[in-house]
Amino acid sequence: MKTKIGLLYGGKSAEHKVSLQTALAVIGALDLEKFEIHPIYINEEGQWIKGPQLTGPVENVSALGFSGDNQVSTLSLAPALFHSGTQANEPLDVIFPLLHGPNGEDGTVQGLLELLNLPYVGNGVLASAAGMDKVMMKNVFAQAGLAQVNYLAFIKSEWEKEKATVYTKVEQELGYPCFVKPANLGSSVGISKCSNQSELEAAFIEAFQFDRKVIIEEGVVAREIEVGILGNDEPECSVPGEIVAKKDFYDYKAKYEDGDTAMIIPADVTDTEYQHIKEMAIKAFKALDCSGLVRADFFLTKDGRALINEVNTMPGFTPFSMFPLLWKHTGVEYPQLIERLVNLAKERHTQKQNIKYTF
Ligand SMILES: Nc1ncnc2c1ncn2[C@@H]1O[C@H](COP(=O)(O)OP(=O)(O)O)[C@@H](O)[C@H]1O
Ligand SMILES: [Mg+2]
Repeated sequence: MKTKIGLLYGGKSAEHKVSLQTALAVIGALDLEKFEIHPIYINEEGQWIKGPQLTGPVENVSALGFSGDNQVSTLSLAPALFHSGTQANEPLDVIFPLLHGPNGEDGTVQGLLELLNLPYVGNGVLASAAGMDKVMMKNVFAQAGLAQVNYLAFIKSEWEKEKATVYTKVEQELGYPCFVKPANLGSSVGISKCSNQSELEAAFIEAFQFDRKVIIEEGVVAREIEVGILGNDEPECSVPGEIVAKKDFYDYKAKYEDGDTAMIIPADVTDTEYQHIKEMAIKAFKALDCSGLVRADFFLTKDGRALINEVNTMPGFTPFSMFPLLWKHTGVEYPQLIERLVNLAKERHTQKQNIKYTF
């Protein structure tokens, strides 16, 4: 029996196009002898559209953006969307969400899939939500004893009431340079590096456009090292990779438009540094109660200190993204990586079926 995979891609977020590219690559890598592919497309208006089952390779992304009659809105999608259509009421076996950003990797879609009791690839509600909020994530890391940069957080109304006090606190506790970031957005959107108070003010204004909560971090001079974690209860760590930015910092433009960054895999780190990063990454994975996969990003200072920067609960997943490349260099090719993730999803779901909810 083939495993029926529901590929969930597109989405309302800024990363719609990236998601389509990822879907194309995943479709190309899935073995049609083993898997049935059922596309579920979320268009830029946020409507969910179930496409016909894919029985062969797809040429380009334009074949993945469906419209038309079987369009289902998010509110009424539950029963209609997650069935293979081949037989009435036969649910898909695994949902593979290939979505980034808000409403994709923040736990909302995961919550929907939980309600439907469907196995799905990747992190659950809690890890996804906590991983999307930089303040929550850092609070969890702090509690787990993981080394990281010093940080402060403010909500918009606090800042509006006492701007001067907020700036003094930032200057006294963190100093310059510091980084101001919206708590809830990825892809470096709304992030500024500040060297003085007027830049700080501008950075708050900018960041508050994207969220009601901001995080301010002490700036460090460090290399950026990333590892991929794969597994459920016994997560494994990939070889390390390094992001080298040609700009002042790894910003949105550099990441997504200019291609102004390079990836070095494996990163040139000492064995001691790698062991330490690996240990921290697995600790972070467990602290956030992750499952399936995570990309863990670190700062490595000149004196060899590793500080955790963040984890990404749905890291970039095209064959040219860091996470799949890290695993390729670790000996897991893209098609195997996908299969492992599907199996991990089934394993976690099976485990959950044995949990009692009443007593
Ligand atoms: N505290 C910091 N010190 C030095 N550089 C930082 C710091 N925070 C962020 N950066 C730079 O900005 C980039 C984006 O920040 P990050 O927190 O990773 O946001 P995103 O979630 O958008 O990836 C990092 O990859 C790094 O280059
Ligand atoms: Mg980052």
